Amino acid sequence: TITRTPVIAGNWKMYKTVEEAKEFLRALPLSTLPDDVEVVICAPYLCLPSLAEQAQGSKVGIGAQNVHWETEGAYTGEISIPMLKAVGVQYVIIGHSERRAYFGETDETVNKKVKAAVKTGLIPIICVGETLEERENEQTKAVVERQVRAAIDGLSSDQVKKAIIAYEPVWAIGTGKASTAEDAGEVISFIRKTVAAGYDWQIANEVRIQYGGSVKPENIASFLEQTDIDGALVGGASLKPDSFMALVLAA
Ligand code: G3P
Repeated sequence: TITRTPVIAGNWKMYKTVEEAKEFLRALPLSTLPDDVEVVICAPYLCLPSLAEQAQGSKVGIGAQNVHWETEGAYTGEISIPMLKAVGVQYVIIGHSERRAYFGETDETVNKKVKAAVKTGLIPIICVGETLEERENEQTKAVVERQVRAAIDGLSSDQVKKAIIAYEPVWAIGTGKASTAEDAGEVISFIRKTVAAGYDWQIANEVRIQYGGSVKPENIASFLEQTDIDGALVGGASLKPDSFMALVLAA
């Protein structure tokens, strides 16, 4: 039997000052977090050092929302993996659709970042998902397959096992219109099959695959009921300690 620990990850996007981030974590009942859920907060870079310090010894893992693939160099405005690791960051979102849409992220840069992350033990949360137009043209599976294959290209079995994939249909992000659980479950099963095709089923069955897109305390249970869905990547509903806690407790 396969037991995958679900991951509930908050993606704060470009919200919260350092002080607001500290306040959030102070309000989370860190000592009462359940053991059978992995809890992650992906915050703006500036908040990461203090969050990682505050979260030390607790069940909360801290993640960045992007990273550069080079270790160091003349890359104005960028942050590297060693810089993140030095302050205690354990996760990094890679290839979020907002980065693909507004900041020139491509399948190729996603792959470079994923490879650099897994090499150092930083856990990538790899985002994939189709736009509304792609869905209407019945390209959902083709798009997601292309994105997944490109992202994990060149990873060893051990590296791919540790990666987390988040299926976030672009039309469901921040719109209040979540995918149906059945639809998300179907695409996520297809993603697992895509991983199996590149490796094998034993490995694919270890990879955690989350759903993201308008997840709230009221609808999270329906997604988690789907056998292939292993948690959620949450934007808006992760910004308040109460609703974030409700999401964690639902998992
Ligand atoms: O990465 C999470 C995200 O894109 C979903 O955002 O606000 O729809 O939960 P939201």
